[in-house]
Amino acid sequence: MSEVAKIELDGKIYELPVFTGTENEKAIDISKLRDLTGYITLDSGYKNTGATKSSITFLDGEEGILHYRGYSIEQLASKASFMEVSYLLIYGELPTKDELADFEMSIKKHTLVSEDMKQFFEAYPAKAHPMGVLSSMISSLSTFYPESLDPNRSKEAKNLTIHRLIAKLPTLAAWSFKNSLSHPFMYPRNEFDYCENFLYMMFAMPTEDYKVHPVVVEALNTLLILHADHEQNCSTSTVRIVGSSQANLYSTVSAGISALWGPLHGGANQEVIEMLEQINNDGGNVDKWVAKAKDKEDPFRLMGFGHRVYKNFDPRANIIKKACDDVLEKLNINDPLLAIAKKLEKVALEDAYFKERNLYPNVDFYSGIIYKALGIPTEMFTVMFALGRLPGWIAQWKEMTENKEPIGRPRQIYIGNTSRDYVDISKR
Ligand code: CMC
Repeated sequence: MSEVAKIELDGKIYELPVFTGTENEKAIDISKLRDLTGYITLDSGYKNTGATKSSITFLDGEEGILHYRGYSIEQLASKASFMEVSYLLIYGELPTKDELADFEMSIKKHTLVSEDMKQFFEAYPAKAHPMGVLSSMISSLSTFYPESLDPNRSKEAKNLTIHRLIAKLPTLAAWSFKNSLSHPFMYPRNEFDYCENFLYMMFAMPTEDYKVHPVVVEALNTLLILHADHEQNCSTSTVRIVGSSQANLYSTVSAGISALWGPLHGGANQEVIEMLEQINNDGGNVDKWVAKAKDKEDPFRLMGFGHRVYKNFDPRANIIKKACDDVLEKLNINDPLLAIAKKLEKVALEDAYFKERNLYPNVDFYSGIIYKALGIPTEMFTVMFALGRLPGWIAQWKEMTENKEPIGRPRQIYIGNTSRDYVDISKR
């Protein structure tokens, strides 16, 4: 007999089905609760709410486990390419050699963006944050490809939209950086792989020969894989909610980019470096800043620490910390911020406040130091996160549309005024 949960309300016992996932995670299915009892569930921030059944990413926050389609993040980060991982997330299986070659070729065919889009960049102020530019540019793609407006077209049409998006996001991201410097845009070069091409468009100049450093390519590949998906986080839930209204993929991902921008989510990687610079400029007194983070009267938080789901360690942070040491050594860079970060981590991990609340370094804690070493400016850090997260957003959107999930529409408990009469303005 299948498992049920019993709930007693107003003296009556109701039975609710229990659903068990493939990794033995359990959920009480409350979808009929309101019809049966008149009650809804209340869960601010969805801390305990499963919004979907998904077969893309598994994570166990207590054990520090992260799997994409069943493969561990440790294996993927050390053995796979970002394109392979993108294929895996979107289509469910690791590609064969031929499938990967076809996928990469299809993406290379679409790396150019319309010349008309170049004009948009001219209208942005020089100080425009690249995340604001990127989300607008990605949404604008829908205006250039009106056939994408119906997300339920044929499989081929859906794939074309997906491949266009994967191909054009690096071009638009790199151009938003070039635009902030008032430098000429570099056109994509299809003899390069995905990471090389992005670095080329970011750092090459028409006036000089540019060689992509293999250590930089490898580090970028690892960082993008580590960020590629993270189940139902804020931006992914945004993507699923926006997509559930049957909005087109470009607008849907643009909404995800906006959600990612916030400092509590992807924007934290920029905040971490700014925090480390602030501590460094302040004389490197780590204890003082740890004390500030613990002070409830002080709004300061230790950026790059804590996670909604990981309560033991973030497996991505472990890989990034090692990669950080590696990259800095290979590129022969001595960054004082790395020493501060390590000291901060050590002090915080031994502190009762952080221990009691299970606050550990998250993916963003060391990623900024690597991006800095790769020559990527601070304001582009969250754009890098978006570049990595794109296949995850697409996979989650594709799964949601294929499962024909209903439009996302949470309920609420109203706590405002009860019914009252309109008062004329002369009497207020
Ligand atoms: N520094 C100091 N105190 C903290 C921190 C921090 N970074 N994070 C959480 N706390 C405290 C918080 O004040 C609360 O204390 P108390 O129980 O006394 O009220 C307790 O820990 C629980 O925190 P919470 O805010 O209720 O936890 P949450 O699950 O709602 O938030 C979080 C998770 C990631 C938003 C939060 O830990 C945070 O703001 N961290 C800093 C920002 C950051 O690094 N974000 C990147 C997350 S990883 C990348 C991604 O996937 O987006």
